[in-house]
Amino acid sequence: MNEENGTKKKLLVVNASKRRNGNSYALERHLAPRLESRADVVYFHVGEKDVRVCLACDGCKRRHEPSCVQPDDFTALIPEIDKCDAMLILAPVHWDQFPAQLKAFLDRTYSFMDFSQPDFSMAGRKDKKVGGFFFAGFGPVDVYKGMVETNLKSFATAGFRQCRAHVAGDANVPGSILEKPDDLKAAGEMADWLLA
Ligand SMILES: Cc1cc2nc3c(=O)[nH]c(=O)nc-3n(C[C@H](O)[C@H](O)[C@H](O)COP(=O)(O)O)c2cc1C
Repeated sequence: MNEENGTKKKLLVVNASKRRNGNSYALERHLAPRLESRADVVYFHVGEKDVRVCLACDGCKRRHEPSCVQPDDFTALIPEIDKCDAMLILAPVHWDQFPAQLKAFLDRTYSFMDFSQPDFSMAGRKDKKVGGFFFAGFGPVDVYKGMVETNLKSFATAGFRQCRAHVAGDANVPGSILEKPDDLKAAGEMADWLLA
C-alpha cells in the first residue's frame, strides 16, 4: 500500500523462463499471494510473448515519449513499464548471461532513451525499483550475481534507478526452489523491498 495516498503499488512481474514447470514459475506461484495482497500485479511471461529484437532504427528517437515502431507485445507493454512502481524479474541464467528472450526485452527499453535529456531518459517515472531473481544449474552464483547486477543497471534508462539481484544456485531440478529456505527468504525480502 502506498502510504501517501492509500493506493496499491503497481508491480510488473517479468518471467523469462521457457520451463513452465521450472523454478522461475514455481517462485512466481509461491510469491503470488504475498505480492497480490499488497500490489496490483501485471504478469508478463516473456517466453510466451512476441518480443522482437530491437531494430536499432531510432524510430523511437523521433518522439519524446517512450514508443516503438514494432507492433508487438513489448510495445503494448511500454505504458505498464513506464507507470509501474517496481519490476520483479524471474529468470534462468543461460550460458552465463541473461536468457535471449530477456536480453531482447532489455534491448527494447532503448525505446526509453532520449539523447536530448541530461540523463538520456524519457521515462515518465524515474524512481522505480527492479529486482532480479535468477536461477542457475551449476555455475558460480557470485559471478552470476555480478552479471545480473550489471544488466539490471541498464534498466535505469527506463526509470528503474534502484536494483537488487539474487542468484539461486543448484536449481536445475524443476520446483527445487521450494525446498530451499535460504533462497525463499531472499525472495521474500526482495518482494518486500520492491513494495516498501
Ligand atoms: C540454454 C541453457 C543454458 C544454460 N546455461 C547455464 C549456465 O551458463 N550456467 C548455469 O549454472 N546453468 C545454466 N543452465 C541451467 C539453468 O540455468 C537452470 O536449469 C535454471 O534453474 C533454469 O531455470 P528455470 O527452471 O526457471 O527455467 C542453462 C540451461 C539452458 C537451457
